[in-house]
Amino acid sequence: MIENLENTLKKAKKFVFLTGAGISQESGISTFRGKEGLWQKYDPMKLVSAQAFRDDPKLVWSWYNDRRRKILAAKPNAGHVAIANLQNHREVSVITQNVDGLHHIAGSRDVIEIHGNIFATKCTKCDFRGNIGDEFSDLPPSCKICGSYLRPDVVWFGESIKQDVWKEAVKRSMACDVMIIVGTSLVVSPANTLHFYAKNNQAAIVDINPENTPFSYEMDFSIRQTAVEGLSRLISIFESPF
Ligand code: APR
Repeated sequence: MIENLENTLKKAKKFVFLTGAGISQESGISTFRGKEGLWQKYDPMKLVSAQAFRDDPKLVWSWYNDRRRKILAAKPNAGHVAIANLQNHREVSVITQNVDGLHHIAGSRDVIEIHGNIFATKCTKCDFRGNIGDEFSDLPPSCKICGSYLRPDVVWFGESIKQDVWKEAVKRSMACDVMIIVGTSLVVSPANTLHFYAKNNQAAIVDINPENTPFSYEMDFSIRQTAVEGLSRLISIFESPF
């Protein structure tokens, strides 16, 4: 399999990486599911929905403050960097479900954040959009335009991905030669449908994850390793001197 995978990767021109929380796990950021996942400790319906924010903006805002502090203290790991370095050899797009911005910091240039970014804010009433760095107010900030609460500009349960963002993600998936799925349980839609678009374009589908996912049977290659182990090995194919 390894030789076959190496030949497939060497021949490929356009790479799409679909990433999830698992790629940031080795940067010290919790995943959502699995034994140490956030959803083992918290009820997502009390934290990541518009209703939850209406019910208790202070609770939701302080939980996002806590996540932002952890993310500000984190650094991209060798997995993020391997994806960024592949740009020196091939055309690379990253479609990420993560809101931590670590792909950008690692140097990836074409990143589609389908679930938004934890440092972006938007007004709950008008169409104001903003950014929040390392301010940690107890209550959500008020919109400068209309005075309503700002909220994190991320996709919550029950909300849809911005149309133009989703269209871009599908376009990249339909045009790639290889889709490498890293660190996602593939349980949240529509992110877990993107590999079907890639398959329709006869792309090879690779997944890098220590565990199986509900779509493992769809993969052409499965690397049962962590993101750092699997991606470091993958980029070495392009960086080895011979
Ligand atoms: N390297 C690679 N994969 C890993 C690692 C690692 N070091 N550690 C864990 N994983 C895998 C787990 O096996 C799991 O399959 O990463 C996956 C993480 O899955 P989830 O926690 O469900 O995260 P994700 O798939 O990104 O969740 C999707 O759900 O709650 C929403 O909006 C949230 O974007 C998130 C979406």
